[in-house]
Amino acid sequence: MTVPFRLHVNPRYAPAPGSVDDIDPVIVPERRAAARTAITGFEGYQPTPLHRLDGLAGTLGIETLWLKDESGRLGLGSFKALGGAYAAVHLLRERLGGDVSIADVAAGRASVRVGDMTVCCATDGNHGLAVAWGARRAGAKCTVFLPGPVSEGRERAIAGQGADIVRIAGSYDEAVEACAEDARARGWLLVSDTSHAGGDEAPSRVMHGYAMLVDETRDALSGAVPTHLFVQAGVGGLAAAVIGAFRQDLKSDSPKGVVVEPMTADCLYQSAVNGKPSPASGDLDTVMACLAAAEVSPLAWQVLARGAFAFTALDDDGATDAMRFAAAPIGGDPPLVLGESGAASLGGLMAVAGDAEAREALGLSEASRVLVIGSEGATDPDIYRRIVGRDPAAVMAG
Ligand SMILES: Cc1ncc(COP(=O)(O)O)c(C=O)c1O
Repeated sequence: MTVPFRLHVNPRYAPAPGSVDDIDPVIVPERRAAARTAITGFEGYQPTPLHRLDGLAGTLGIETLWLKDESGRLGLGSFKALGGAYAAVHLLRERLGGDVSIADVAAGRASVRVGDMTVCCATDGNHGLAVAWGARRAGAKCTVFLPGPVSEGRERAIAGQGADIVRIAGSYDEAVEACAEDARARGWLLVSDTSHAGGDEAPSRVMHGYAMLVDETRDALSGAVPTHLFVQAGVGGLAAAVIGAFRQDLKSDSPKGVVVEPMTADCLYQSAVNGKPSPASGDLDTVMACLAAAEVSPLAWQVLARGAFAFTALDDDGATDAMRFAAAPIGGDPPLVLGESGAASLGGLMAVAGDAEAREALGLSEASRVLVIGSEGATDPDIYRRIVGRDPAAVMAG
């Protein structure tokens, strides 16, 4: 059965970053190093696994498939901990005047001094959980703005990290605006993961945290280089960080980055078609709840405008099929728990790999070595159970 998708090969793609490149001003090497030092010092930090899925690679007609599995990241279920938690402690430290180390703030050793400070953010779920986790460790207060469609399970998880919750009747983008307004009025530290509200500093730190995914992946690949990279996007911060970090490190040897979004929340796809930041064409109603963004992050767009090879918009069935497939794999591959948004990149690959025209457009062949980002596990177990029909723990038990 084929899953509906749209594919747009980026006419502005610059294969070799160079003078036209927009990466270094956005993914700043010193900031990458600072994020790495801070995050590797977090209590409980360890690199997440990179799985090699030979059975599925054979089925898809490619040489190699790797999946970077973020389901176990710092016990929070998604890669977001790398960005939101890091940016929260970074901003708290800046507010203190920088006279303590990030490690001290992250471990709560400055809790008396940050106890009256509040960090805040808007979220579809995972970013808020990450920010609340970072604030709690530091000993600061946290308020998280949730748009209407975010599930109660996700709200409970964030509140469980000690955050106050503000429900906004509207969309994610409206929650972003409301949060930015309250932050301005109350002097809160806004840990935004998108740069269109509240300035560039926080989203920049967030993206530098995400770039750790590339460091860990390259360590695990020990010299092997993927030809393609499939990465899911909401506002584009994750995609820009991983595509940008690969291009910074590997220049013209970088994998071709393919951005995957929900059909109804295709703001990056539309931006690529129009050659400038443009809103999503759909109503944002998607099972890939964490990717339901109407507007791109301008900071991310600076990298993706010429750094992404192609953009795809995927039907919801693409993500749910990939979740079920990962849970019951073939050919000796390990079972994997991928959440709805976490499975989007694999779903995008599965959709295009079965379509001759798309394969040709992307240069996908039996010689291709593809990396996909499994950006979350079962971050809402009830929803996972409804879609896959099994408990996440039962899937992992095989
Ligand atoms: C699991 C998951 N994957 C991918 C993304 C997309 O990240 P970005 O909004 O930076 O594009 C998100 C964002 O919340 C997410 O939670």
